[in-house]
Amino acid sequence: MLLQLISSSLDWLRDQATAKAQDALISVLAAGPIPQHVAFILDGNRRYARSKGMHVTQGHTDGFYNLRKMLEICMKLKVRCVSAYAFSIENFKRSPEEVNALMDLAEAKLLELCQRGDLLDQYGIRLVVVGHKDMLPERVLAAAEKAENMTKHNDKAIFNLCMPYTSRDEITTAVHSAVKAHVENDDDTDITPEEIEGHLMTSIAGSPPLDILVRSSGVKRLSDYLLWQCSEDTQLQFSSTYWPEFGLLDFVPVILDYQRKVWSKA
Ligand code: FPP
Ligand code: MG
Repeated sequence: MLLQLISSSLDWLRDQATAKAQDALISVLAAGPIPQHVAFILDGNRRYARSKGMHVTQGHTDGFYNLRKMLEICMKLKVRCVSAYAFSIENFKRSPEEVNALMDLAEAKLLELCQRGDLLDQYGIRLVVVGHKDMLPERVLAAAEKAENMTKHNDKAIFNLCMPYTSRDEITTAVHSAVKAHVENDDDTDITPEEIEGHLMTSIAGSPPLDILVRSSGVKRLSDYLLWQCSEDTQLQFSSTYWPEFGLLDFVPVILDYQRKVWSKA
């Protein structure tokens, strides 16, 4: 009994020390230039689950908790906008069991995230569900709209949760809207890239230009994510860590690279 108490006290002390060391590291990084917009392709949940002998659903759940953790790290760094590829339109081709499990997770976690006192409220983050929302099951769409409404007055930061999303769908929808606006206004001038950009789902919520795109799990592909937003200035980072294990120590070199780039231009 006593040994158990000592052991759990030591665990607690170690966790406290780790949290303090992490906060100190974040404060040092935050003294340098900080990207305004960071996007994550959350890849490797299933390989992580299999490597640990877990069910795939547990991999996605751990992936969600890691997204929360990375969102908080970004907020402590004062990143203004975070985007996450939570569900591609292509993911509907996965087994119905896996798609349902991801939809259950989305429904439960969307509402949990924006409760009073939880992360979005704590840091003043506006949640925007970016994507072809009418492809979502009704219960998930209702949760998404409720979460968006609950956070619509938050103005310190933006969290773009992209689901179900692909860039080609986002760009096609933006072109449709731009054409529709021209037709309705009897405007026969050429449509400009700026107009199309103004109709992108990410622009509507006011996301700043994309500074960094991170993909986890060692795969080097963009998988139809934020293709328009990846400009010549966007820093692309590929990490070999599976998403549920991607943490501050994987992120530090990414931020340092960004800071080196900004300082070298000054
Ligand atoms: C990619 O890993 C991950 C996904 C398809 C889902 C990501 C979703 C979450 C982390 C939860 C998001 C949060 C909410 C609120 C829904 P993978 O399945 O492609 O894994 P693999 O590359 O190892 O096969
Ligand atoms: Mg994958």
